[in-house]
Amino acid sequence: MADVESLKREAGIEACKFVLDGMKVGLGTGSTVKHTVIELGRRIRDEGLKITGVPTSLATEKLAIECGIPLVELSSVDGLDIVIDGADEFDPDFHLVKGGGAALLREKIVAQESDIMVVVADERKKVNVLGAFPLPIEITPFSQSATVRALNRILDCRVNIRMSGDGPVITDNNNMIADAHMGPKIEDPISLESEILKLAGVVQVGLFTNMCDAVVLASSNKVETIVNPNGKLA
Ligand code: A5P
Repeated sequence: MADVESLKREAGIEACKFVLDGMKVGLGTGSTVKHTVIELGRRIRDEGLKITGVPTSLATEKLAIECGIPLVELSSVDGLDIVIDGADEFDPDFHLVKGGGAALLREKIVAQESDIMVVVADERKKVNVLGAFPLPIEITPFSQSATVRALNRILDCRVNIRMSGDGPVITDNNNMIADAHMGPKIEDPISLESEILKLAGVVQVGLFTNMCDAVVLASSNKVETIVNPNGKLA
C-alpha cells in the first residue's frame, strides 16, 4: 500500500492538468496542494507555462515564490479561473471541512473568487458524514472566551482554542482558531454553516458548501478525478 505522502504527491500533481496557459490560479494551503505548487513551478521552468497565482496563506506565498510562480494580489484581479486546494474531509455532496492548517478564511475568499474549485486529497479525506475532523472556526481574539462559550452552547460539543506550544495559534489575519469536536454527525452542513456565521465574533467557518467542483483523489491503487454532478465541471 502506498504511503500517505506518495498519495498526496500523486493527487497534487494530477490536479495540475486543470491548469492552462494564461490562467489566474488560486494556490491553496497544506501538505497535499504543496505538491501542486511545486509541479506548477516545474512547468513554468521546464515547459514555459504562463500563469499568475494568488496564494491562500503566507506559507503558500513563500513556497510559490521559491518555486518561481508569479504572484498577484487578489484585489488586483477580476476573479480567478481556478483554485486548487486541499481539504480535511469531503462528503458525497462535495461539501468540505477545511482549516486544519488555519488558512480557512483566505482559502474561502479565494475559492469564492474562483470560477472552479478543485480539491486534492488522499483517500483518508473521503467521509460519508462530515465532522470526525474537528471543525475549524476562525474567531476574533477580542471576544475569544465569549465566542467559545456561545459555540459550545450552539453546537453542544467541546470547543477548544487551537494552541501551538504555550500560546494560541494566530492566523495570517491575526485571529484565532476554535476547533469544534462535533463528531461525524454534520448531516446538514449548509444550515450549520449559516448558523455559525450568524454569531458575531466568528470570522469564518471551515465548512465549504457548494464550492467544490471536483476532487482529485489518490487511493492506494489509483488516482481518480471525481466530478461534482452539480458543479461547473459537470
Ligand atoms: C488549510 O487551512 C487547510 O484547509 C488545508 O487545505 C487542509 O487542512 C488540508 O491539508 P493537508 O493537505 O495538509 O491535509
